[in-house]
Amino acid sequence: MGRETRGGALGAGPTSARKLRPRSQHVCVRGARLGFIIGEQIKAREVNPPAHPPAPTGVRQPNTTTSKSARPLAVSFLTSVLGACAGNGQGLDANGDPVNGVSTHPHALAADFKSIQDNVFTPVCVRCHSGASAPQGLQLDEAHSYALLVGVPSAEQPALNRVTAGDPNSSYIIRKLQGGPGISGEQMPLGGPYLSQGTLNVIKQWISDGAQSAASAGGQTTGAFAVSAISPPDGAHVRVGARPIVVAFNHEPDFSRISEASVRLERVTPEGIREVPGGVMLTLAGGNPATVLLTPRLALASGVYRLSVPAAGADSLADVNAQPLARSHTSEFTVDDAP
Ligand code: HEC
Repeated sequence: MGRETRGGALGAGPTSARKLRPRSQHVCVRGARLGFIIGEQIKAREVNPPAHPPAPTGVRQPNTTTSKSARPLAVSFLTSVLGACAGNGQGLDANGDPVNGVSTHPHALAADFKSIQDNVFTPVCVRCHSGASAPQGLQLDEAHSYALLVGVPSAEQPALNRVTAGDPNSSYIIRKLQGGPGISGEQMPLGGPYLSQGTLNVIKQWISDGAQSAASAGGQTTGAFAVSAISPPDGAHVRVGARPIVVAFNHEPDFSRISEASVRLERVTPEGIREVPGGVMLTLAGGNPATVLLTPRLALASGVYRLSVPAAGADSLADVNAQPLARSHTSEFTVDDAP
């Protein structure tokens, strides 16, 4: 396809992956803007998007094989709110404090990621924010939440990260949880009851302290190097092409090996696999160097897109300790209409 690896030289420069490690706390490590164009500018060619017949409703889970079936976004939204999100206030007591069903300690909420996951995200947010129809692609279950929060731009307000390590005031999640005129959409948790100020302060403290992951705080990062989370999830239908496209790994990847060939976003057309017009910028999420962000230079047109990370071949990835990727990843999502 006439592609060239242009990213290969980056690792030799002053901004290689190793230097992006956010080890100091209280420092806002912004996303390293290491973008480079994937592939050549290709000739824009009008391709008829595949037809999207209406498909049955129902909350789809990721990793199913139904990625090519379609359903209107409105149905997806309603299903998510009405189906997955019946009942309000789950996980919170009358004061908006987490009801502690997870820990044996009555006040276990602490300013570390695992505690916030176990006491807030899992019991309160996951009933809506999970699966292929998670609102704004934001899955907050344990397997996805850190990768999709820290250093990842908000879908509603892309100028702000969902979490900016070191800076709660410019973390969109805090604004959404506090409510107020500056947000798009509604205060979270949608429909209330809302988190108490005390709970919010703990989440802010975790962000001020550098928004460390459970792993960097002493948890496990052992096991074979692999893709650990993606967004949009496999089979998802998204409305606009501007949302963050995220590929997260269980170890920090060696950024010098990240290129258009090692982390691919391609368009699936009736004529075959095509490059994405305009190319894609690849960056590491600020404060979260195990997460790679793909930013299309042009808004994605409607159609089916394939995200793939090959484990074999000269272009395959390795982690910062030169451990090769253990298995390939492939998933697809559909952009239903252009912005
Ligand atoms: C009842 C369902 C529901 C619950 C519970 C819920 N959300 Fe949401 N969330 C939504 C919907 C729907 C949207 C998109 C529409 C909107 O923003 O109003 C959304 C959007 C968001 C966004 C914006 C994402 C972006 O990229 O711009 C954030 C952040 C968020 N929610 C965080 C949370 C957190 C944290 C919790 C738990 C404390 C939570 N939500 C609980 C339904 C829910």
